[in-house]
Amino acid sequence: MDQLDKIKAPIATLVDNFHSQFAEILATKSEWLGRAIELLSASTGKKVRPILVALLSGLPEGKSPAQRSIDAAVLLELIHTATLIHDDVIDEAKTRRGRPTLGAIFDNRVAVLMGDFILSSALIGAIALRDLEVMAIVSGIGRELTEGEIRQFESADSLRLDEANYYEIIRQKTAVLFASCARIAAITTEASTEDKERFTLIGELLGMAFQIRDDIFDYYKGDVGKPTGNDLREGKVTLPLLHVLLQQPDSPETKEALATLSQHPLSEEGVARLTELAIEGGGIRYAEERLMHYIDEAKQLILHYPDSAYRQSLLALADYIAARSY
Ligand code: IPE
Ligand code: IPE
Ligand code: MG
Ligand code: MG
Repeated sequence: MDQLDKIKAPIATLVDNFHSQFAEILATKSEWLGRAIELLSASTGKKVRPILVALLSGLPEGKSPAQRSIDAAVLLELIHTATLIHDDVIDEAKTRRGRPTLGAIFDNRVAVLMGDFILSSALIGAIALRDLEVMAIVSGIGRELTEGEIRQFESADSLRLDEANYYEIIRQKTAVLFASCARIAAITTEASTEDKERFTLIGELLGMAFQIRDDIFDYYKGDVGKPTGNDLREGKVTLPLLHVLLQQPDSPETKEALATLSQHPLSEEGVARLTELAIEGGGIRYAEERLMHYIDEAKQLILHYPDSAYRQSLLALADYIAARSY
């Protein structure tokens, strides 16, 4: 049993079954969409976000989450799926989850429309929950996420090297979705206002750590089911390299790195040199330290609740997010 199987043990039957709910929400008259949905169902991801929703829903009382929470988890994973489809178009990525992306199979124009179809279907799922607060949160996710991705482009374009700006971007593009998952878990379990705020913060902290770990993957050649080196190829300077450049602003290495980053497109040799600089300069170590701060803070908040299978799994989920290898 892998680490995630253990983590989701208290909620496994709920989360494993929800691909049938996917199919129901995404029923379509289009042959291509039908094929795309089959492909997506055959290559599910880690499902970290719905696992978070389901585990948090069980946390306060130590009992099985309500169907409402699971319905919400399904639509939040749909939103995530749609954003990945769009993200792969934006990043021109040809593989995801170890398989060709929809853009590679059909083409990018069709992939954008498929992402839109899934996103709109998720919004219909949100309306079915008949809760204005949930709808407001769900509608806000797309706005934050797209703004975050655009700001990342702006920062790359202007070679903006600023650590606070990096955190703000990853908060918008990734942590807001995690925070929204957590907040909706609180709402669908009718938790107290205090729990709602605490859950939201737990989600945000885990989301920040999740994206920093993802950004670290980009500096290694290992198999994570999607291309690596892509952030740098697009001039996106994430925490490991950012730290090294900020540490030594006037060094010849930094000057050379900035000259490389201003080239479009970046050469493969340039990407390799920047990667090496980030690793050799201690950038990965620093990024790991930062992500551990987020994880430790999240765990402290989780420990506020009484011990249960849900609490143990949430603590293990935090460890998994810190140390995951794909
Ligand atoms: C990838 O998310 C996008 C990021 C926010 C880094 P996941 O790593 O959760 O993707 P899947 O769903 O498991 O494939
Ligand atoms: C996260 O950023 C993208 C989203 C918020 C959808 P990345 O561009 O780093 O995600 P991956 O690495 O392609 O999964
Ligand atoms: Mg990407
Ligand atoms: Mg990435």
